[in-house]
Amino acid sequence: MRIADQPPSRTIRSVADRPSRGDVADVVIESLATGGRGVARIDGFVVFVDRALPGDHVRVRVRTSRRKHGEADVVELLAPGPDRVEPTCPHVGACGGCRWQALSYPAQLREKAQLVRDAITRIAHLPDVPIDDIVGAEDNLEYRNKVELTFTQEEQGPVLGFHRAGRWDEVLEVDRCYLIGDAPNAAKDAVQRWAQSTGLSGYDQRLHEGELRNLIIRHSARTGDLLLALVTTDIELPKLGNLIDELQESVPGFVSLLQTKNSGLSETTQGHPTEIITGQDWYREEILGLTLHVPHNGFLQTNTAMCEKLYGIAIEESRLTGTETVWDLYSGIGSIGLALARDAGRVVGIEIVEDAVEQATQNAQRNNIENAEFVAGDVAKAIEPLIEAGAPMPDLVVIDPPRAGLTPKAVRRVLELKPQTIVYVSCNPTTLAGNAVLFTEGGYALEVVRPVDMFPHTPHVECVARFVRTPAADALVVD
Ligand SMILES: C[S@@+](CC[C@H](N)C(=O)[O-])C[C@H]1O[C@@H](n2cnc3c(N)ncnc32)[C@H](O)[C@@H]1O
Repeated sequence: MRIADQPPSRTIRSVADRPSRGDVADVVIESLATGGRGVARIDGFVVFVDRALPGDHVRVRVRTSRRKHGEADVVELLAPGPDRVEPTCPHVGACGGCRWQALSYPAQLREKAQLVRDAITRIAHLPDVPIDDIVGAEDNLEYRNKVELTFTQEEQGPVLGFHRAGRWDEVLEVDRCYLIGDAPNAAKDAVQRWAQSTGLSGYDQRLHEGELRNLIIRHSARTGDLLLALVTTDIELPKLGNLIDELQESVPGFVSLLQTKNSGLSETTQGHPTEIITGQDWYREEILGLTLHVPHNGFLQTNTAMCEKLYGIAIEESRLTGTETVWDLYSGIGSIGLALARDAGRVVGIEIVEDAVEQATQNAQRNNIENAEFVAGDVAKAIEPLIEAGAPMPDLVVIDPPRAGLTPKAVRRVLELKPQTIVYVSCNPTTLAGNAVLFTEGGYALEVVRPVDMFPHTPHVECVARFVRTPAADALVVD
């Protein structure tokens, strides 16, 4: 995107009713929609504009035009909106990450708070629910503990970067990623130097040629541990001694190198066979005084400092007194459940990934927590057998689902547990709002929503919501 210093030099078609693909128009961005795109109107017709910010005066070209709305790309930034700032990273705009880095941080927080308000008001239809002020991130750069880079082939050999904005098949080389710290950036550089010495090439997503696909870096700034997983086709890696020497010399905290073999066509990094080249297939992280072993492919909130804030709020909203039974649904490696166990009578976690359940169990032992147990299963299916097996009914259910939220069936199973309180940790206000409808229909009242910014420069926002059981719940039959 460039800022125009000349008045418009081309004729803008006047667009009646609905614009057509390819039409060009000058618009002002009114707001940001869920997902982070700018919203503008062409003669009243709504278009979503990628990478445009509120108040921007932009020339756009229509990419799609549907019955109710369309999509458009910025051709030229004619005049910046009031909250546009110079981003730290020179790749903003071209790189597929950091969609909001050119928006001032206070404005990002304002927009995220509004996304949460809109979801609770317009989707859940609960306009009277109190929504706390959003908690801003402590650091809005170098906050990520995990990054997934992609290889591409350039003249000098394989280079590492991120997908170009809007492109699945093109990778932009980046000198430095500002969302990760010095050690992960040094790891990226060391792997790239080694890759260029091997004669291997970066995988071409379109032609399906080349051997080197991705580099996953996981790093704890607290323990210093840094784990790398190289995703390749099914090959033996050459010059591994050189790579390990290079990593040990130039990457502080380097502990493990793994190879994941993906010979399939799709660019997935999970679920493929993984071998340990050196070290082990986990690294150590510290959260709220717990030392956690995180499997190389296991879920962990990607912003450790803000994860502590988020869990701290979840603990506050749980209002435990030391005796309660807590069910931790979607428990991952046990991080929330173990943080709550110190104030609870007993914790039961349910998680679908068996390795994560194994790590959660070991994490409990590692931290001398004896009142927490973790069970493998799908939340929608595992609750009934657990109750039949005599598991204690919960006073509190903590829910921390993936972005899609709970299925209606999973909500019904939670309602059957009849907990006094439900604390819902959500990474997607839209699905939180959809689930809030079902919980309120089930006789629960949404008492408060507390947004937290875990992901500066992206449109993502996390929330903790507290639901309490009302007398209406007793009158309802859940089927
Ligand atoms: C957002 S993560 C939360 C993990 C954990 N609470 C934490 O804070 O690290 C969601 C977790 O839900 C798990 N999951 C996804 N679908 C599930 C299902 N149907 N039943 C149980 N667990 C599921 C994922 O494997 C993942 O570990």
